[in-house]
Amino acid sequence: SSSGSGSSSFRRKPVIIIVVGMAGSGKTTLMHRLVCHTHLKDIRGYVVNLDPAVMTLPYAANIDVRDTVKYKEVMKQFNLGPNGGILTSLNLFATKFDEVISVIEKRADQLDYVLVDTPGQIEIFTWSASGAIITEAFASTFPTVVAYVVDTPRSEDPTTFMSNMLYACSILYKTRLPLILTFNKVDVAAHQFALEWMEDFEAFQTAASSDHSYSSTLTQSLSLVLDEFYNNLKSVGVSAVSGVGMEAFFNAVEASAEEYMETY
Ligand code: GTP
Repeated sequence: SSSGSGSSSFRRKPVIIIVVGMAGSGKTTLMHRLVCHTHLKDIRGYVVNLDPAVMTLPYAANIDVRDTVKYKEVMKQFNLGPNGGILTSLNLFATKFDEVISVIEKRADQLDYVLVDTPGQIEIFTWSASGAIITEAFASTFPTVVAYVVDTPRSEDPTTFMSNMLYACSILYKTRLPLILTFNKVDVAAHQFALEWMEDFEAFQTAASSDHSYSSTLTQSLSLVLDEFYNNLKSVGVSAVSGVGMEAFFNAVEASAEEYMETY
């Protein structure tokens, strides 16, 4: 069922988009915007929610972890705090993830994209066994890309910028999947500064040197290492609120899916 020139025997569609980002980066708002965009443009989308603890979602999910696992009951049953509850709920869901994959496989011919929302506490997904199992299950069946959402206004602070880049870098090397740096909230601050910092680490070092703390020294050394990492990335600026950048986002997804088809 594959098409195109890639040597891969995977299906070309749907492309899985795993959306991750630090709490407050605007992940949920962006998911909502992406879902709206697919409706508007007649793109055939499917939505998977992997956040067991989210109270209300602004969009309708086709597959929702909350239908299968009751997070509050898991907390009670296993005597866990909130984070342990989310982690255990995701572990329980991961054991049945082959069912999720077959549901998507059955609909594959009618789908362009599957948008996957992940828990608000990013490390619960990126550093857990279940997160790895779920990512691997997707990536071994469909072209899969990661959208790493960045809070652009907050990242104008060089140390916050560096924290975000290190996190994204660790996700890239852990998942080995194409990664799209998705600079969100460009209605508040344009992401031009970030592109400049990624292109020219001396410009970044100059910005960082105004901060004389220890972490600033560390930050400056790390920027050299990250140079190589930046070469492996795509970056887009978006606003979940204004809707700017949606075309650029899906273009980056398409290019990343191509990359996936050539590599895997
Ligand atoms: P979860 O933790 O997964 O629930 O999502 P999140 O915390 O990453 O992001 P959420 O969507 O809850 O957004 C956090 C805050 O950022 C909210 O106050 C949003 O209104 C705001 N926000 C999100 N996207 C944008 C944007 O593009 N522009 C502006 N100005 N604000 C935004």
